[in-house]
This record gives sequence, C-alpha cells and structure tokens, in this order.
Amino acid sequence: MNKQETYRSTISDFLGVDQKNIHTYWKGRVALYTALKAMNIGKGDEVILPAFTCVVVPNAIIYLGATPIYVDIDKNSLCAPVKNIEDKISPKTKCILIQNMLGLSFEVDEIIALASSRGIYTIEDCTHGFGGTYNGVYNGLKTDCSFYSTQWNKPFSTGIGGILYVQNKELRSGIEELNKTLKNPSFKNVMILRFLIFAKTYILKNWSYWFLLRLYRKLSSLGLVVGSSSKDEIEGVKKPNDYFMGASNVQAFTGIKVLKKFNKVIEMRKENGIKINEWMQSHNKCHLSKDLIINHSFLKFPVLVKNRESFLLAAEKFKIPMGDWFISHLHPVQGDLSQWKLNVSEFPIAQEVSEQIVNLPTDINHMDSLMRFLEKHKNELL
Ligand SMILES: Cc1ncc(COP(=O)(O)O)c(C=O)c1O
Repeated sequence: MNKQETYRSTISDFLGVDQKNIHTYWKGRVALYTALKAMNIGKGDEVILPAFTCVVVPNAIIYLGATPIYVDIDKNSLCAPVKNIEDKISPKTKCILIQNMLGLSFEVDEIIALASSRGIYTIEDCTHGFGGTYNGVYNGLKTDCSFYSTQWNKPFSTGIGGILYVQNKELRSGIEELNKTLKNPSFKNVMILRFLIFAKTYILKNWSYWFLLRLYRKLSSLGLVVGSSSKDEIEGVKKPNDYFMGASNVQAFTGIKVLKKFNKVIEMRKENGIKINEWMQSHNKCHLSKDLIINHSFLKFPVLVKNRESFLLAAEKFKIPMGDWFISHLHPVQGDLSQWKLNVSEFPIAQEVSEQIVNLPTDINHMDSLMRFLEKHKNELL
C-alpha cells in the first residue's frame, strides 16, 4: 500500500466504512466541490445551507454556477433547524447541506428524511465534527456524501486537508472519474506545508502562539505561505486556478501519525467540554442542553460574550488560546455579502451570534487556568 492508500484505510478503519468510499483532497472545500459536481449541480439549481458558515462553502456552490439559498440557525445548537430548511425548499432545490457547527449537530435525521421524501441530495459538512456522533452513528455516515477538514484547528490536523465520504452508490463512479482530473499540489506548496507542520509541532509554544498566529495570518493573506483561504476566495466568487487539487503525501503521512492518537484527543475534548458546560450551567450562562452534549465532539466550546474584542484581549493576557471563528455569517468576510447572495438582515439569529461568539479550547491538558479565567471574567459572559 502506498502512503495515500494507508491514509485512506486508517480513516476508513476509524469510521468503520469501506476504504474505496473515502477520498482525500488538498482541502475540505475541494471535497465539497467534488460531491456537488458529481451530483450534477450547476446553473439553475439551488443548494440550501446555513447562513452561518465559512465563505468557502457558498463559494463551492457558486463556482459550479448554482445558487446558495441560506437559512437562519437555531441559537442553541448553532445549526439550521429542519423547519427553516423546509420553508426554503423549491422545485430548484438539488441539495441540502447539513453542518456540524463546532461539532454540534441538530435534527440531522429529520433533515435527511425531509430531503429524501422530496428527492433532494444531502451533504453533511463535518469539517468540525470528525469523530463525533449523532444518535450513536459517527457524523457524516448518513447523508449521500459528507466531507471533513483536517486544517490546522480541526478535530485532527494535517496542516490543511480534506476528506470525502461517499455513501450514495450512484455517485461513486462519478466521483472516481472526477478524481482522475485532480491536479497535484506544487512542489513549493508541499514544501511550505511540510515546514508549517514542523513549525506547529516543534516551535509553536504557549509564549509564541499569538506572535506566530498573527504572522501566519499576515503571510497567508499576502499569498506567501499555504493559507487556509486565498485572497481570491475571500474577496470574490471567482474560482482560483489552483483550486481542484488532491492530497499530498505530506498530508497522508501526517494524518496516519495523528490519527493514532486521535481517540485520546477526542476523550480529552469531551471531558473538558463537559466540565466547561457544567460551569456555564451552574453560573447561569448560555450552555448546551443534554441532548446536544451526547452528540458533541467538542472541537471548541462556543461562548457568547458582551464585548468580543476586550474578551479576546483578556484571554491573550491570560495565555488562553481563545478562537475568534465565525465573526460574520460567512466567516471571515465582513460587510457586504451580496456577491455570495446573502442579505444579512434576513438572518437575525446568525447576526446576533456572529457578533457575540468566541470559542474556548478543549484540547488542553491543564484546564485550571481556563477555569480561573472564566471565573475572573464571568460578568462578561452571556
Ligand atoms: C463550516 C466549515 N465548512 C467548510 C470549511 C472548509 O474546510 P477547508 O478549510 O478544509 O477547506 C471550513 C473551514 O474551516 C468550515 O469552518
């Protein structure tokens, strides 16, 4: 077996699925694009998705000429509820995207039942949810296709990277044909990625975290290092030339290595997530209901705050690596979203949450300082 095959078999063994239905890509968004393309989605078709996502998600739809149709989220689960989705179904709807937001899932079975009763495809965006379960089944195993991300902060990381699982038999041969047309990432990009993975493993320490994070964001916005998103992807809706790329051996090698320790990490995330949730509940702060906890992989713990900027600064002083994801309906793009056909005033819950959300780390060994930080800043939490 070569490295890529071993990587695919490591993933399929974990999920308990057939290796031939697992495919790997340079990024998660490429897996989504491939699934949509295999569904023959294009001009005149509509794809329903939450109005609280990453901009690269509607990009994949728009690159194919289809129209993204957004729905507002539910404030507790941060996911789009079945009722909101049903209201947006039209004769043009070809696919519904179900998203695990920060690992949370909501009404997945109901949405799949609704879609199949109308002959509509489903794709689960499990970029935050690898290893989490819904009604006892791993996230991503119930929809026609699902995709996972292995980008820096995801459940397990290969620097950047994406995985597609294809459940629907009718889509399998189309996806294999499309995969034959994937480009290889350039030697330069693979070398940069190799260096970044090395730097994250051996250089990124608590004291250097914020400096290196800012440096990485700056360099990737200038296109000088392999970044999560290119300038083209966050400034407009034109598909970048080097978009449709397969996974490199560096990603396969790293994935095989980190997946060996994955069970330990997910257990730690769950334990820490439950601890934070209990604290939130006992202090009358926004917390997750019992049914959401059962499903949750606790990639991060979502928290709503009165003033995000000052809360993030206070966390930095306390050396807590707090996240600022989803600061807009289509993270990280703020302001006018009309290029992506999204009118923010139509989605008030996503608006409110995007103004207040930060996320707490769950993969840290010693939670004491995080808990002390929460105690000290409890009046700033909602
Ligand atoms: C909800 C969501 N969907 C899709 C993606 C895209 O994943 P990738 O960066 O691997 O393309 C992201 C990226 O972080 C995301 O947060």
